[in-house]
Amino acid sequence: MADTTTAEAPSESGGAAAPAPAVELFKIELRIKRFDPERDTKPHWESYQVEMEGTDRVLDALHEVKYHHDGTLSLRRSCAHGVCGSDAMVINGANALACTMLIKDAGKIVTVEPIRGLPVIKDLVVDMEPFFAQYRSVMPFLINESDPGYTERYQSSEDRERFDDTTKCILCAACTTSCPVYWGNSSYVGPAAIVNAHRFIFDSRDEGAADRLDILNEKSGVWRCRTAFNCSEACPREIKVTQAIEEVKRAILYDRV
Ligand code: SF4
Ligand code: FES
Repeated sequence: MADTTTAEAPSESGGAAAPAPAVELFKIELRIKRFDPERDTKPHWESYQVEMEGTDRVLDALHEVKYHHDGTLSLRRSCAHGVCGSDAMVINGANALACTMLIKDAGKIVTVEPIRGLPVIKDLVVDMEPFFAQYRSVMPFLINESDPGYTERYQSSEDRERFDDTTKCILCAACTTSCPVYWGNSSYVGPAAIVNAHRFIFDSRDEGAADRLDILNEKSGVWRCRTAFNCSEACPREIKVTQAIEEVKRAILYDRV
């Protein structure tokens, strides 16, 4: 959070410096769903009044609470720039990354909850293992037994284009944990795993498409998707998640990659 005092800005002429304009701070109320398994039997809401700038992010407001109001608040974050995917949470009722949502867009009353459908470990920290187990189940790596020799495995721009969108996934879990089918049945492999299967199924260098399609054709696979579109709306990388799921369904139906 910035200081409100004015600073001396250097003048171009080298003369007397003009005071830089003061940064406007305003109060927001942060309502955070808290849960401490050592003290609580169920989650409860706690409110904090913090002073922020409009261009601060929700993550900055959470840091303000943790560093200056209540050090027991637990949350995950790493890069703070929308790259690592670790701070997906439910902000004002919708999945978002706390590090990319600006306070001016979040409003003066901001609610923050853990992502849904995964067990809460403490406060905003959930157990991601069920999510990563689904991810691992689709073999999200290049499968090719042939020896490339001393060259690279070449690929045309057109072939690369087929899976370009799904390479952008940062495994934040926003899509899977916004999916009503996943809330109701955690054995569903979920949108993120399908996105990451898509990334390899449509890669012309890969030879594991048939195995992945067999996995996704099982009862916990793509056919559980009811095309609710929550996943595409939740994705902070704007990946066309529903479209990727549809492409995988068509590849299974028509035996064509
Ligand atoms: S597809 Fe989008 S929402 Fe889903 S895990 Fe990847 S980046 Fe996150
Ligand atoms: S902290 Fe890395 S994506 Fe937000």
